[in-house]
Amino acid sequence: MSEQSMANVPATDDAQWWRSAVVYQVYPRSFSDLSGDGVGDLAGLIDKLGYLELLGVDAIWLSPIMRSPMADHGYDVSDPRAIDPLFGDLDTFDELIRQAHDRDIRVTMDLVPNHTSDQHPWFSGALGAAPGSPERERYIFADGRGDDGELPPNNWTSVFGGPAWTRIVEPDGRPGQWYLHLFAPEQPDLNWNNPEVLADLQTTMRFWLDRGIDGFRIDVAHGMAKPDGLPDLEHPAEVLLHSDDDPRFNNEAVHDIHRAIRSVMDEYPGTFNVGEVWVRSNEAFSRYVRPDELHLGFNFRLATAGFDADEIKEAITESLAATASVGAVPTWTLSNHDVPREVTRYQPTGEAADGRTPDDLLAIGTIRARAMIMVELALPGTVFIYNGAELGLPNVDLPDDALVDPVWENSGHTDRGRDGCRVPLPWEGTEPPFGFSSRSDTWLPIPADWAALTVESQLEDIYSMLSLYRQAIELRYARPEFSGDTVQWYGAPEGCLAFRRPGGLICALNASDRPVPLPPGQILLVSTPLEGGLLLPGAAAWLV
Ligand code: NOJ
Repeated sequence: MSEQSMANVPATDDAQWWRSAVVYQVYPRSFSDLSGDGVGDLAGLIDKLGYLELLGVDAIWLSPIMRSPMADHGYDVSDPRAIDPLFGDLDTFDELIRQAHDRDIRVTMDLVPNHTSDQHPWFSGALGAAPGSPERERYIFADGRGDDGELPPNNWTSVFGGPAWTRIVEPDGRPGQWYLHLFAPEQPDLNWNNPEVLADLQTTMRFWLDRGIDGFRIDVAHGMAKPDGLPDLEHPAEVLLHSDDDPRFNNEAVHDIHRAIRSVMDEYPGTFNVGEVWVRSNEAFSRYVRPDELHLGFNFRLATAGFDADEIKEAITESLAATASVGAVPTWTLSNHDVPREVTRYQPTGEAADGRTPDDLLAIGTIRARAMIMVELALPGTVFIYNGAELGLPNVDLPDDALVDPVWENSGHTDRGRDGCRVPLPWEGTEPPFGFSSRSDTWLPIPADWAALTVESQLEDIYSMLSLYRQAIELRYARPEFSGDTVQWYGAPEGCLAFRRPGGLICALNASDRPVPLPPGQILLVSTPLEGGLLLPGAAAWLV
């Protein structure tokens, strides 16, 4: 470890601090814009560190801030060892780490090893070089099928829609090979069979770790390795979805890559990495979090469960089982920049929504989201909070002409993509841009009716979502009842669930449609005030 990073470690020094941490995901474009260009930046984040301290989080995870043409808003990296000017520069980044550490907040950042931008010098070099050249070997180029190679090498589709292959024009002007991109055409997949690719990633990791970074979120951590022979997909895959046996993901060789990544992390005690692992089977998931691979893996079961006691209980039980078998730490997340916001996800749909106004539905979604953050924070393991969840932001139905997620274009306008959960945060004031920026045409428009959701309006309101988050996070730290790595399920009325931590905390959730009695105990916190001593529909309670 360099002198710089040693001087730059936060005050608390438990090397495994992340095992029960609350990590706050900052989507930098949408957090706070100080430069006044309508897009969030690092200076804006520094400006709001006091807010994050008040919220009580242990760490932030920054979605990508490296140099990028922004075809996928930073997940297309053209220089992995530079900050994109849109967000600031290395000096600002160093200042962010210094100031965050001064406040005892760790800083982790996204790392994108599966692909680069098509503007990365490696890719430009590959386009200008001959088939079979060392430059081409850094990516996955292949000859096409058909008489003239006019058909893609296999039938893989991109996660964003359309084919996963794009044909290039060779330097001599003729149509030539195809390159693989599991995401947008601007995101060519790297060839992880080439040792140069790993060596470069390790250089990138040390570059940031030496600056004092406390960890990484690894993008598409179940990607990278591709199967020999690139076999066809047996079933067509839906946009943004795939199954565990999809040949594009979750190939055995990925585990060697994770071991190599871990060996670098182990040079920097006190750091961790968390992988984006979209696999469903517990057995497959557990393999990513073996002691010499990822420290943590995102388990998306809770983020994809509906507001239903059985579904939630199953998501928790399965997530715990997926880590317990290998002695790993579970993670919990309700939403992120790819997953619809919980306030919207938990709104009744279909028959259950009949006869209710949009405001009624929003109110129900909000009540349920309040309960679910309490369920999440009651669990053992690491909790990830997506910026804006603490304000109870809903997804936004943006008009077609505001959509900028590459999914919208690449899916041929069949999937509206993820912009709805990426709208900038409202900070203060009564009209857009609510203090997010000095200019009103922010990169995604902020709804005019978010005045009641601003940080300013929620801070002093003890019943606000923000106040609930602050109280719940504080109790999770302060109270000894939150100790222990397991949960014990209690009997609960139909449509409800209740569990107990070894330390003595009881968490009860009423996902039914009628008020229910609470388990015995002294109340520590309720998400919605009790009525007649009963827990209302959609509410949760903590008891000791
Ligand atoms: C997962 C990221 O979370 C998502 O936002 C991105 O589009 C893809 N990986 C591709 O990098």
